Amino acid sequence: MSDGPNEQLKKFVFSSKYNCQGQIQEESLEIIIPELLQASYSFYTWPSAPVLAWFLWEHRKELVGLQILEIGSGTALPGIVAAKCGAKVTLSDSATLPKSLAHTKRCCQLNNLIVNQDIRVIGLTWGLFLNDLSSVGPIDLILGSDCFYEPSVFEDILVTISYLLEANPNAKFLCTYQERSSDWSIEHLLAKWNLKCQVHNINNLGQSAGIDIHDLIGDHSIHLLEIFR
Ligand SMILES: C[S@@+](CC[C@H](N)C(=O)[O-])C[C@H]1O[C@@H](n2cnc3c(N)ncnc32)[C@H](O)[C@@H]1O
Repeated sequence: MSDGPNEQLKKFVFSSKYNCQGQIQEESLEIIIPELLQASYSFYTWPSAPVLAWFLWEHRKELVGLQILEIGSGTALPGIVAAKCGAKVTLSDSATLPKSLAHTKRCCQLNNLIVNQDIRVIGLTWGLFLNDLSSVGPIDLILGSDCFYEPSVFEDILVTISYLLEANPNAKFLCTYQERSSDWSIEHLLAKWNLKCQVHNINNLGQSAGIDIHDLIGDHSIHLLEIFR
C-alpha cells in the first residue's frame, strides 16, 4: 500500500459507544493517512487535525448533505472524515503547491474516496481572488486545521474567509488553532474583516468513545474556534 520508502501510513480510528440516534450501538470509522518525510507542511498530519476531525465525528449526524470546503487541507483528515460521514466535501490547498494537491488526492484515494466523484480537490490560495474561489459554489461549512501556523498568513486567511462568508451568510468557519506563541493573535484581524469568533470547549471530545483528547494532542495547546459574520 505504501508509495515508496518515504511514505508512512498512519491510522486514525474514530468511534462511539452510541449511534447517531443516541442509542447504545458501537460505531467506528477508520481513516488511513499517508505521510511523507519531506520538508513541507502539507505532507504531515498536524496535532490540530485529529481534534477537528473528532469534533466532526461527534457531530456526524449534522454533516449529512452539507456542502463543506476545507482550506489548507494538507493530508485532509477533517475533510475526509466529513466526506465519510455524508457531507459533500471540497478539499483545497495552495494552488502554487501541485505536489501538495497531488498528496491530498492520494489521501482521498487511500480512503476509497474517488476524486471528482465522491470528493473534490482544488487549488485555493489564501488572499488571492482567482477563479478557483468563485468556482467553489455554495458552502454551509468551511474547515481549517492548523492554518494559522504563522502570523504572515493570518490576514490572507481571514480575507478569504470573510469573502466566502459574505457570499454564504449562513456558513461558518470551524478551525483548530495550535498556540505556538502567546504573542500571536487574530483578534484585531477579526474586527478588521467583520468577523466574530466563538471558542468551543474541546475537553470532552472523545468521551463517547472512552478516549481523552489530550492523549492525542500531548503537550500542544489547541483551540477550536468558530468564526462567523
Ligand atoms: C500546518 S499545515 C496544516 C495541514 C493540515 N490542515 C493539518 O492540520 O494537518 C498548513 C497547510 O496550509 C497550506 N498553505 C500554506 N500556505 C497556503 C496558502 N497561501 N494558501 C492555501 N494553503 C496554504 C499548506 O500547504 C499546508 O497544507
